[in-house]
Amino acid sequence: MALAAVAVSPSGHVIGVDPSAVMRAMAAERCVRWIRSGDLEVRPGSAENTSCANESIDAAISVNNVMLWDRPAGFADIHRVLRPGGRLVVTVHRHVLDFEPARLLEEAEAAGFVDVRLSPGPPVELVAWRVQ
Ligand SMILES: C[S@@+](CC[C@H](N)C(=O)[O-])C[C@H]1O[C@@H](n2cnc3c(N)ncnc32)[C@H](O)[C@@H]1O
Repeated sequence: MALAAVAVSPSGHVIGVDPSAVMRAMAAERCVRWIRSGDLEVRPGSAENTSCANESIDAAISVNNVMLWDRPAGFADIHRVLRPGGRLVVTVHRHVLDFEPARLLEEAEAAGFVDVRLSPGPPVELVAWRVQ
C-alpha cells in the first residue's frame, strides 16, 4: 500500500482493503505517513466486496491474496469498480496456488476483463483491462 501511495502522490488516492482487522492495523501502522497526508485509506473489505463505487478506480492491485478469494465474485467486483480503461494486476507466489495459474486468466475473462496476460513468473502475474 505504501508503494502505491508513493506512486500516486500527491494527486492520486489509494484505498487498501483487507478483511482482517489485524492486517489492516499492521498496514495502517506502516502507512501512517500517507494516511495522515490523505493519500491513502485502509478499509475493511475484500476482493469480493471492495465497497468502492462503480467505475471509480483507475487501477487495482492484488499481492499474494488471490488464492483466498471467491475468485468469480472477486474478479466481478473489481471489474465493477474499475473505470473503463482501468487495469487489474494480480501477483502471487506459484506455490500458494492449488490450481493451475491459467485458471486465473479464464476467470478474469469470464468476469469481462480483456487483453488478459498471464506471466508464469515467478511470481505468477496477471494483467487485465476493463474496456467498458
Ligand atoms: C498472505 S497475506 C499477503 C499480505 C501482503 N499482500 C503480502 O504480500 O505480504 C494475504 C492477505 O489477504 C487477505 N485476504 C484474505 N481474504 C481476502 C479476500 N477475499 N480479498 C482480499 N484480501 C483477502 C488476508 O487478510 C491477508 O492480509
